[in-house]
Amino acid sequence: FDTKTRPSYTSDKTSFAYISARDRWPVILTGAIDDVHRAVSESTDEEKRTEGKRIVEDLAKLNPLPDDGKPDIASYNKELEQLGSPSWFNIPWLYAECYLYRRIATAFALSSHWKQYDIFARQKMSTFRSSRPAVLELAGRYHELIKQMENKGNKSQEELDAAEKILFMEMCEICLWGNATDLSLLTSLTYEDIQKLQGSEARKASEKNIIANDLEAAYSTLKKAKSEGKKYRQVDIVLDNAGFELYVDLILAGFLLSSGLATNIILHPKAIPWFVSDVVPRDFADLLNALANPQPFYSTPSEDEVAAGKTPTPLSQQEMDELAFLFKTWSEFHSEGQLMLRTSTFWTEGGSYWRLPSSAPKLYEDLKESEIVIFKGDLNYRKLTGDGTWDPTTPFTTAIGPLGPGSGVNVLALRTCKADVVVGLKPGLDEELKGEDKSGKREWAWSGKWAVCSFSDGK
Ligand code: F6P
Ligand code: MG
Repeated sequence: FDTKTRPSYTSDKTSFAYISARDRWPVILTGAIDDVHRAVSESTDEEKRTEGKRIVEDLAKLNPLPDDGKPDIASYNKELEQLGSPSWFNIPWLYAECYLYRRIATAFALSSHWKQYDIFARQKMSTFRSSRPAVLELAGRYHELIKQMENKGNKSQEELDAAEKILFMEMCEICLWGNATDLSLLTSLTYEDIQKLQGSEARKASEKNIIANDLEAAYSTLKKAKSEGKKYRQVDIVLDNAGFELYVDLILAGFLLSSGLATNIILHPKAIPWFVSDVVPRDFADLLNALANPQPFYSTPSEDEVAAGKTPTPLSQQEMDELAFLFKTWSEFHSEGQLMLRTSTFWTEGGSYWRLPSSAPKLYEDLKESEIVIFKGDLNYRKLTGDGTWDPTTPFTTAIGPLGPGSGVNVLALRTCKADVVVGLKPGLDEELKGEDKSGKREWAWSGKWAVCSFSDGK
């Protein structure tokens, strides 16, 4: 059930796979180890400390995973066996990177004192806090927009429809660019870079950077279902990162519900800490808690601020009101059952989404019920396309194989490019973006500067 197109290997010297294995993973692992060390030093429980140190020793091995009771371990180990005796530098990139995070999760799952520990939680929350300017800007805009939608005045249906379509595009773009800043790339970005990436000016300037854009087709699909008078219309979002990206996912979810383009939203977080910044259910709760009580969240100085002698500016009354509005809208949708979380271990398996129909038939059936399944981010895109070394002009509908036409699943990928794989491009565009660089590297696609919004109709 895998694509025949060769996947990206860490041994391809010109690939981002190679750079990831060589430069990024050591940094991510060292950060993870530092985090456990710090938690160990904060604990006075001797057994917990000893166990924590053992976990650290276990983190970077590349051998069969110990059984932690979950069903996916067997297939991880079978695949490892089939790969022979791979090294970190000669292994399919996608499998190896998934294995790395799965291994970390096993180490904690098998402990007695660290079972619930999320090695990346500290980092996720503090990065969310540092995206404060963009969070406040969006909260204001969202409030304004919902008010306008409620107050239709004497606008004609045509005008309302045109406005709805523009808003849909804009919400999707906000949601898209929220992916530009994931924590696993932060090993090379500064916080100032992140803030620059998030404001609305930056978003407008980035519109020309969407190099494959099927948002119109996605909009038509939702609009059609609505005008056919279907009572129950579900949209699924396969989430990517926590913090700011989850916040913009909720902005899109809220817009779809308030506008009636969907009646229900199902969010799919990961069941284990994943690729540093991916959403686990607790991140959703943490985000809502921060919004429920924003003043202490933003105004209590962090350790770094204390060390630098900085005092954060308290939120104004208006800022608090706008955040309160968001909290109220989202928690109402949540308590009404219109906004739900659903976890599945399928999302954290080691293979691509070409395996969805065979590995997770129940989940596959559920997704067929959805009007659109939105896949956020780079890793989801790599998994949709099998992380294959496709010719970039290959149609998206071909590259997603079993999830393409005929699958019964309408797929929309919102992805900023942070890896080698890319499809659905106009002929010549890849060459143009590569420019003078004749090394064979597709370096333009590594930094999150360019994006694709690709749609596949499952009919
Ligand atoms: O390209 C860097 C990288 O960490 C990839 O390993 C991974 O596919 C991706 O970024 C994670 O990004 P995202 O959070 O957008 O899936
Ligand atoms: Mg991610």
